[in-house]
Amino acid sequence: MTHLWLIGLGTMGENLVRNIISHDESIVVWNRSLDKVDALVAETGNTVIKADTIADLVQKTESPRNIILLVPAGKVTTEVAQELFGILSPGDAIWDLGNAHWDVTLANQAEALKHGIHWVGCGISGGSEWARLWPALMPGGEEETVKRMLPLLEKIAAKDFAGKPCVTYVGRAAAGNFVKMVHNGIEYAIMQWIAEIYDILRSTNTSQAEMKTIFEELNTGLLKSFLLDITVDILGTKDSDGTDLLEKISDIAGSKGTGGWTVEAALKLGVPVPTIAESLFARWMSGRNHQNSLWKMNNEKWIMNNGGISKIETNLLKQALKTAYLASYFQGIELILVAEKEWNWWIDIQEVLRIWQGGCIIRSEMLRVLPDFYREWSAPDAESKDIETLLQEAREIINSSMVPTPVLSSSYSYMLTRTSEKLPTNLIQAMRDSFGAHGVKRIWSDVSESFQWNS
Ligand SMILES: NC(=O)c1ccc[n+]([C@@H]2O[C@H](COP(=O)([O-])OP(=O)(O)OC[C@H]3O[C@@H](n4cnc5c(N)ncnc54)[C@H](OP(=O)(O)O)[C@@H]3O)[C@@H](O)[C@H]2O)c1
Repeated sequence: MTHLWLIGLGTMGENLVRNIISHDESIVVWNRSLDKVDALVAETGNTVIKADTIADLVQKTESPRNIILLVPAGKVTTEVAQELFGILSPGDAIWDLGNAHWDVTLANQAEALKHGIHWVGCGISGGSEWARLWPALMPGGEEETVKRMLPLLEKIAAKDFAGKPCVTYVGRAAAGNFVKMVHNGIEYAIMQWIAEIYDILRSTNTSQAEMKTIFEELNTGLLKSFLLDITVDILGTKDSDGTDLLEKISDIAGSKGTGGWTVEAALKLGVPVPTIAESLFARWMSGRNHQNSLWKMNNEKWIMNNGGISKIETNLLKQALKTAYLASYFQGIELILVAEKEWNWWIDIQEVLRIWQGGCIIRSEMLRVLPDFYREWSAPDAESKDIETLLQEAREIINSSMVPTPVLSSSYSYMLTRTSEKLPTNLIQAMRDSFGAHGVKRIWSDVSESFQWNS
């Protein structure tokens, strides 16, 4: 008898089952549409065992059971969970691999515990193909429960730079979902600034074939990353008539919620995540450019007539990308560190950065240097450039274009802010004191005073 079940044979579920059985494990599977289970059983033989109903799953497994849920997050997960609570035995564990909000995971954990059942909120990243091959897995919840599944998860997970599995016990309570949510927030940011570089290149009349070559060049060293890999592939993709497919794709971007939740968490915890927030707003802005034809401007007017991006400018692009990369990771990591401090979830940031090295969407060579930064609090060596030069060069590329670059610009401002010796917020403080007597502190003093700000 196996201890392993899976509910939900959608894109992710089916690929995860294929991954699990490729490691000589058997698994009992139930899906709302049973024909999908029949097809998989017919193809894979007796390693996949069909359950006709959720209750039938119980008969075909023994305690302590580990039930993987891969159904839509929210209402469906709650409904399936309610059915499970009624039939599971104490000590069984439900592993929710959906993109659940951390508050929902906390509520599900409390509800499960009333039945003696453990609820693990486990982030999974890498998309459907990587679920089949090597996902990155971020489980959080009760430590013992997570640890009993770790040997299996280590088999199916991606590998980090040192060859270790990209799975770890992320932490208590909703730590797994929270870390996965922040991962997605960082993903939003990286995707948006890659799109902005594409837009800058497009505004210089660079052909898609040339862009592909430029992105191949950008996708080296610390910038080497999954999202740049797929950008190169996308730029090389042709429609059935042999023309570039990308230019025919609608510019209205979708989003499913995790980017918004990251910003919501940042607001709740008081953590500045401007790059991530701008990337969310950029998706929401998309489509609004189609709404008012009076405001349309002639894009042709803004095309820079410099005959394409030169070699030196490609280097500038690299600096802009590094600035954005650092800003995106810094903001996400700070959000996790603050959440960990606030809620005491036992999150080890070194482990998080390690398991993001393989399998997940935000994997990049940058993750080789970031762990040292957070271990020693020394600036990461962004390939022998000091931060000042990096920012100067990034600014050149951002200022050179008339296309909107909310995330590149915001990343640049974020990095400049974080590295500035002085900010203008002394004036903010003075204004607050002037109209509201909120008090100000002199530099290096803890004493709050109020002044009459009359000149
Ligand atoms: N796709 C990704 O790249 C990705 C990455 C990470 C995490 N996730 C998370 O993984 C989960 C599954 O995603 P997916 O992409 O695999 O979704 P999907 O392809 O749409 O599959 C959804 C699955 O849930 C089942 N389902 C839907 N409504 C149901 C209901 N009312 N009762 C019982 N079962 C129901 C479906 O059954 P039928 O076959 O009968 O329709 C199907 O098996 C989601 O929570 C998502 O957030 C997805």
